[in-house]
Amino acid sequence: MYNFCRKIFTTKTKAVEMKRRFSLSVVTRSKFDYLLVIVLVHIVIFTYILFRSENIQSFANFHRHRSSPYTPTCFTNFTQSPQAKLNATWEALEKSLSFNLKPGGRYNPEGCNLSGDIVVVIPYRNREDQLKSFMHYMHPFLQSKNLSYQMVVVEMTPGLEFNRAMLLNIGFIESMNATDNQCFIFHDVDLLPEKTYTPYNCDTSPRHMAVAIDKNGYKLPYPSFFGGICALTKEHFQRINGFSNQYFGWGGEDDDFHDRLKQSGLSITRLSLQDGRYHMLSHAAEKPNTEKFELFKTMRVRSSFDGLNSLKYKVLKYELKSLYTWILVNINETSVKTFDREQLIKMNEELSKKKYTMRRKPRTRQ
Ligand SMILES: *[C@@H]1O[C@H](CO)[C@@H](O)[C@H](O)[C@H]1NC(C)=O
Ligand SMILES: *[C@@H]1O[C@H](CO)[C@@H](O)[C@H](O)[C@H]1NC(C)=O
Ligand SMILES: *[C@@H]1O[C@H](CO)[C@@H](O)[C@H](O)[C@H]1NC(C)=O
Ligand SMILES: *[C@@H]1O[C@H](CO)[C@@H](O)[C@H](O)[C@H]1NC(C)=O
Ligand SMILES: *[C@@H]1O[C@H](CO)[C@@H](O)[C@H](O)[C@H]1NC(C)=O
Ligand SMILES: *[C@@H]1O[C@H](CO)[C@@H](O)[C@H](O)[C@H]1NC(C)=O
Repeated sequence: MYNFCRKIFTTKTKAVEMKRRFSLSVVTRSKFDYLLVIVLVHIVIFTYILFRSENIQSFANFHRHRSSPYTPTCFTNFTQSPQAKLNATWEALEKSLSFNLKPGGRYNPEGCNLSGDIVVVIPYRNREDQLKSFMHYMHPFLQSKNLSYQMVVVEMTPGLEFNRAMLLNIGFIESMNATDNQCFIFHDVDLLPEKTYTPYNCDTSPRHMAVAIDKNGYKLPYPSFFGGICALTKEHFQRINGFSNQYFGWGGEDDDFHDRLKQSGLSITRLSLQDGRYHMLSHAAEKPNTEKFELFKTMRVRSSFDGLNSLKYKVLKYELKSLYTWILVNINETSVKTFDREQLIKMNEELSKKKYTMRRKPRTRQ
């Protein structure tokens, strides 16, 4: 860095020097020399600007280790209601929420009693009002718990059916190297915790969190339900190869995930009905996944090669917004669905015969 600065400085000095020499003898020189000087000066300025913009990203990463320009505020007063309607612009939200955040929606004030380091991964498309409500509610909520956290919103471009599971995988891969993030909370944008004491951290086993949603009458819709929100350590998520990438459209990916967890031998924990109480923000019904029962037929055999290790996507935008890190991705459905289904079904049946005497029948959600 120092060397690079010196190099630029020297280049700049040279250019200035050259300009002076040129201007001294300018009377005898032609117009061509003038042009040369102007071009040189422009090159220097351009290089300088390029150097600056390249360093914006790494500058954000430095924040963690340098003395922070932000006021380390221990946020202790959380009094919001999850049902309250929000009508605010992004500008207003940023103004009220970003004063103690670092770029990319990070919160880690020194001096507070931090109880963990978590990444909240939010799969997203086309739900702007919900995203606003989420940020408005969840930033103060997590801060009141003295958590060190980062908000990561992974958005999919329009065109294809929404692939929640794949976006969660992408959010994981893109943020797992960033810091010492060890705990990942995979969080739908339309769920807000109703109780201030709901724990937001990782357990010794993968944990399901959205246990009692108001829309489901504050109970599990079916015993193996694993949707909405779950919390896993980096190590556990990698061990089960993340989510499947095959589920386009609403539903199914969470049942597949639950099955992966069971296969892996990891035990599962759930929050209690008291701790896991959530309010669901209203939205129009999504188009259900019509292929999910076909996919269930191959879920046992797929888990080893369909997930984190087969993830293919293109990052179009990676932006450190003030309230969250925004990752916009493009997915190509053909390059995701490359498996020979007939062959997989056969393999899956054999595997199931060997391992399980009773096969769990996948249950439907209403
Ligand atoms: C907590 O917030 C409420 C409402 O915003 C306010 O009336 C109260 O004084 C605050 N308490 C503390 C200790 O800051
Ligand atoms: C939201 O707020 C704006 C201005 O603050 C107002 O014009 C608009 O009517 C409000 N919308 C709703 C649905 O309350
Ligand atoms: C958060 O940290 C502050 C200051 O260290 C402390 O007063 C407060 O009790 C802590 N809150 C929680 C929920 O741990
Ligand atoms: C942090 O918590 C520990 C106990 O968990 C306590 O001893 C210590 O005083 C707290 N520090 C602050 C700054 O609140
Ligand atoms: C994360 O780190 C591993 C090991 O250092 C590396 O192979 C991988 O490419 C990194 N991933 C990203 C997204 O930077
Ligand atoms: C998607 O990938 C396939 C091959 O994997 C390629 O033939 C096709 O052109 C790609 N589609 C787009 C829109 O890029």
